Amino acid sequence: AHAPLIDPFARPITYLRVSVTDRCDFRCTYCMAEHMQFLPKRDLLTLEELDRLCSAFVGLGVRKLRITGGEPLVRRNIMEFFRAMSRHLGAGLDELTLTTNGSQLGRFAAELADCGVRRVNVSLDTLDADRFAKITRWGRLPQVLQGIQAAKAAGMRVKINTVALKGFNEDELFPLVDWCAAEGHDLTFIEVMPMGEMGEEERLDQYWPLSDLQARLADRFSLTPLAERTGGPARYVRLEETGQKIGFITPLTHNFCESCNRVRVTCTGELFMCLGQEDRADLRAPLRASAGDEPLREAIREAISRKPKGHDFDYSRQHVAGQVSRFMSHTGG
Ligand code: GTP
Ligand code: 5AD
Ligand code: SF4
Repeated sequence: AHAPLIDPFARPITYLRVSVTDRCDFRCTYCMAEHMQFLPKRDLLTLEELDRLCSAFVGLGVRKLRITGGEPLVRRNIMEFFRAMSRHLGAGLDELTLTTNGSQLGRFAAELADCGVRRVNVSLDTLDADRFAKITRWGRLPQVLQGIQAAKAAGMRVKINTVALKGFNEDELFPLVDWCAAEGHDLTFIEVMPMGEMGEEERLDQYWPLSDLQARLADRFSLTPLAERTGGPARYVRLEETGQKIGFITPLTHNFCESCNRVRVTCTGELFMCLGQEDRADLRAPLRASAGDEPLREAIREAISRKPKGHDFDYSRQHVAGQVSRFMSHTGG
């Protein structure tokens, strides 16, 4: 066995997020530009290369693997990759999962479940079809709702991810909570992070701190903080009246970097040591330079040895600080 990955702040790295494509069938306004320049397909790692890369991380102690994008389910032959990764479940890997916009779940839910995916996170910011079309620029809500149904029918747990957006979905806090209670989904709210090229004013305008959202929830429900964690950044409460679980991802109002356990790989094999920083390491070169994995492992170790302490996102004093110019879609969040 290889020595586990420990970063300079003594944080064990056990969670890998892999973006398998930078493409998406939607264009959520806070995540992508309308006219995105996508990477040429020849720059992508092949599924075999992604397999080698992820397997090397599992060999280095990664226990949780989340497939992201772009939209992971638009990558061609992606089910072959899930099938391949499923061999690590119970053999190093505790969890194989994905974050998706839900549009293709109708097609793939049963097969994902069959590959050992027990839980899926679906991004959904509104239950109003017109608003949905606006925020995604052209997405169709019924297709996503049908995908979510398919995931549930296949026996997977669904967690809805909702980016809290002032002036957009504030009035949907309770409808979303009620809908998730009725459908049996977990629900997590996310503070919008300054990534991409959206202007400062627009970012500040749409920022809805979760401290405020939580206070509104507490007006109507009794909230019990839960100690349990999923290995991700969310902190959870239970609503006593309904028994449902609500999560909060608060990079702005409550920094969680101290307990960071994760890194990300992009579809071209760049390793980002922190979501909120620009520093990255190229893993494609060592991957392609040698049939053996030792140079790859060495590159991974070297990169982890310079994982930064955390992001510098900050909106206080009515300024956006710590902005990162790459789009969220590049690393899948
Ligand atoms: P669970 O396994 O359900 O806990 O999932 P997760 O929260 O780890 O993953 P998901 O893809 O659902 O991420 C939800 C949101 O959290 C996305 O907007 C991510 O960008 C954000 N997020 C995930 N990890 C980090 C992180 O390390 N730092 C920051 N700042 N945000 C993160
Ligand atoms: N800030 C916060 N969350 C974002 N997401 C995309 N862009 C941002 C942003 N700028 C969310 C998506 C998805 C998750 C992977 O990241 O809605 O749920
Ligand atoms: Fe980890 Fe960086 Fe996310 Fe903080 S912002 S939790 S250090 S990846």
